[in-house]
Amino acid sequence: MMFRTRIPKLLTLVKKMASVPVPKNAIAKEAVGKSAAALIESGMTVGLGSGTTASYFIAHLGRRCRKEGLDIKAAPTSSHALKQAQKEEIPIIDIETCISLDIAVDGADEVDPQKRMIKGGGGALFREKVIANMSKEFLVIVDETKRVAHLGRFPLAVEISPFAYMATLAQLRNKGYSAALRQDAREGHYKTDNGNYIADVQLEFPCIHPEKDHENIHSIPGVIETGFFLKLAGRILVGFPDKHIEIID
Ligand code: 5RP
Repeated sequence: MMFRTRIPKLLTLVKKMASVPVPKNAIAKEAVGKSAAALIESGMTVGLGSGTTASYFIAHLGRRCRKEGLDIKAAPTSSHALKQAQKEEIPIIDIETCISLDIAVDGADEVDPQKRMIKGGGGALFREKVIANMSKEFLVIVDETKRVAHLGRFPLAVEISPFAYMATLAQLRNKGYSAALRQDAREGHYKTDNGNYIADVQLEFPCIHPEKDHENIHSIPGVIETGFFLKLAGRILVGFPDKHIEIID
């Protein structure tokens, strides 16, 4: 009898584990996510980033809330981060009425020695930038592979309005940027949580003046935001496969 009831449960668990893909550099990502979660104090309002590294942060933060009674409120940067925070039973802030946060913790796709970054691989760049900008500190968590001498190998995500999007893509291309509209395997054009599209721009490598490229791209009216995160990063925690962490202040 016991045998009969346990086997289906075990099978469900195994199926669940098999369907969750393990991210590249998972050990370093989890180590850095855990270190960031250890820095959060009771009473803080916390921006929750998106992506696999941020997801480890949210998991460890949730664990601290449940096990240590850590008392925080969170502002997720995507529907995915919101879902995870709710699952972890982390209280959510009413973002409509919130004007600042104590800290935001998020990953990145590339970080250069001047703490300039490319983000938006997961398509959440607009909300990530709003949350980073309204936080007293923007704590960045990356595995060592994200550190680069120069930005530009990772495609720059640019959030654009669906309104006249072909014209916006044409204007990007006229300015010399090769832009491809991001696609979703099931739904055609990829849609952000804001109902917009993403144009992935392959920059010329090395990207020596990201500030100029940001201004140039942002000057197109159909562009909502770029994935350049410049002058935003506070401390950067870098995780390594042996689980040690380096802090860039
Ligand atoms: C999502 C992001 C992510 O922070 C970035 O893509 C890094 O992702 P990951 O931690 O999965 O490597 O900007 O929009």
